[in-house]
Formats: sequence, structure tokens, C-alpha cells
Amino acid sequence: MRVFVPGVAPVASPVGAAGLRLSAMATDFTEETAADAVVESFANTPDPRLRELLTSLVRHLHAFVRETEPTIAEWERAIEFLTATGQKCDDERQEFILLSDVLGISMLLETINNRTSDRGSLGGPPPQTKTATESTVLGPFHVVKSPRRELGDTIDSVGTGTPCVVRGRVLSADGTLLPGAELDVWQANEQGFYDVQQPDVQPRGNGRGLFTAGKDGAFSFRTVVPSHYPIPTDGPVGTLLNATNRLPYRPAHIHFIVTAPGHRALTTHIFVAGSPYIESDAVFAVKKSLITEFTPVDDPEQAAQYGLSGSFCISSFDIILQPAG
Ligand code: BEZ
Ligand code: FE
Repeated sequence: MRVFVPGVAPVASPVGAAGLRLSAMATDFTEETAADAVVESFANTPDPRLRELLTSLVRHLHAFVRETEPTIAEWERAIEFLTATGQKCDDERQEFILLSDVLGISMLLETINNRTSDRGSLGGPPPQTKTATESTVLGPFHVVKSPRRELGDTIDSVGTGTPCVVRGRVLSADGTLLPGAELDVWQANEQGFYDVQQPDVQPRGNGRGLFTAGKDGAFSFRTVVPSHYPIPTDGPVGTLLNATNRLPYRPAHIHFIVTAPGHRALTTHIFVAGSPYIESDAVFAVKKSLITEFTPVDDPEQAAQYGLSGSFCISSFDIILQPAG
């Protein structure tokens, strides 16, 4: 006899009724013992973290199957879906990451792995300490090396959208300015397309730039106000969204990867306040702290200051990095 208590290693029994030494392995498969049997099969995994991950995965998957009792046809459909997801992947397209995005897993992982030490503590950060800028998903369009540009340059070489200035400072959590911080930025245009999606309309590198913050930690660049856009829907993830009456749209945003010596790299976006879909991002990537005003300015003197003429929008925000370690 073996006693199976979920989560507790079964006690080895003496010789069983049929003369078999019953391990939890397939010798006597039952609904109740299935998860323990599989978990036990990983008992000799040398890497303890791998064993922990596999054990938990098996327990959750088995619990899911026991709870929902899929039919064989439903399971085959699920396998077909995952097969199609793999077949949609190539060097430029990663449908599994997109699946993880629309299931909220990418954002959950991102948030767990970038907890700021003071977030969630009562009374907020200690005096002099700023809360680090929150992170969000990388997304699939960071596929082109951003062209190096000078502070104040434009990242838009097409010139059909609403001009806009993006500026701010990069600081450490203790308020120290971080001159020399690197900012890699990329965005969709005013029609909601990245350069790689419109090779006949946008030159490669359009909407992208690699900047170095100045002596005072400040950065600024010109661009066009980005538009909201749909994530790719021509694969299994699109089928999933369709079958569940979900919309594929992401609110307008600009991507950033910000790095500075001695600090954790930050992958984030700023979101355009008031953008359509700001409350229903298909990949759940919006955090309130990242929503930024893009304020219209109609002042020729200010426009001239940024090398612009006519009305434009301006967005100002600081980026705060967490010290490494
Ligand atoms: C993006 O913002 O580029 C993006 C993020 C997740 C899925 C699809 C697109
Ligand atoms: Fe994006």
C-alpha cells in the first residue's frame, strides 16, 4: 500500500499484491496518483531548480486537467494550436512570446523580475529615494539596431505625423543624475507601423534612435506622436483573440531600453495619455506610472527652440534606474 498525499513524497511500500514493488510509476496509474508518479520520476534531477520547476509545472498541469476534464478532441485541438504556434515562428516572428504576451505571462514575469525594493511598502520610499521607473514588455519589434543619434535629433525621417519633442533626465534612485546613460528608443509611426512592417514606406531605422544622456543626465529627441496599433493577428494568437472576442490593439507608446553603469537595465514604454485602448492593452503592459501627457504647444518661439516650426507636442518625464545588486 502506498499513501498519496498531494505534495508529500509517497512512502515506499513493501512488495505489492501482484508481487510487484509498486513505485508511483506507471505500474498502477490512477487519476489520484498520476501527478505524484510523474513528480517522483524527476526525483533524481541533479539541478534542484529544474526539479522544482518541473514538479510545480506537472502539479499545475495535472490539476488543470483534473479540473477541466478535456475531451480527447479538445486536447488534440490544443496540440494543433501549439504546433501551429511553433510553425509560425522564424527569425523575425516569435509567436510563442506573443502568446505569452496575450496571456499576461510576459508582464507577470517582467513585473516579478523588476520589483522595486520600496514598492508596496507602507509610507512609500525613504526620503531622498525615488521609486524606480516601472518596466514593461520588450515586444517583438526591437529587431533592428537603432541608429546612433545626437541629443535633439529627430528619429523620424518621413515627416508625415504630428511633430513631437520627448525629453527628460535619467537619474539613480537616490536622485543622482546619470550623465552618459544610454537610451535605445523605438516606436511605431502615426499610422501605427514600425519601420520593419512598412519597408516600402519607411526607411530602416525610422522611428529608432540610440542616444547618450548629456552631462546633466538630460535627454531629448524629436519624433512624431505614435499611434495605437494591432499586434500581429495573422497567426494562432490572432485566432485565439478572435475566438474570445478580444481586441488586438495596443495603446500608443514609445519603447525605451535605458542602461547606465552600476544600474539595472530598464526596459519600458511611455504611453500617450488619452490614447485609444489605454485601458484595454492586448498585452496588459500599461502601468499608470508610465502614462505620460503629450501636451500640444502652439508657440513659434518654443518651436524654434527645438528646431521646429508650427505646432507640436511635448512630453517630459524622468527615468529613474535602480542600482544593481
Ligand atoms: C510592442 O509594443 O511592440 C508589442 C509588445 C507585445 C506584443 C506585440 C507588440
Ligand atoms: Fe510597440
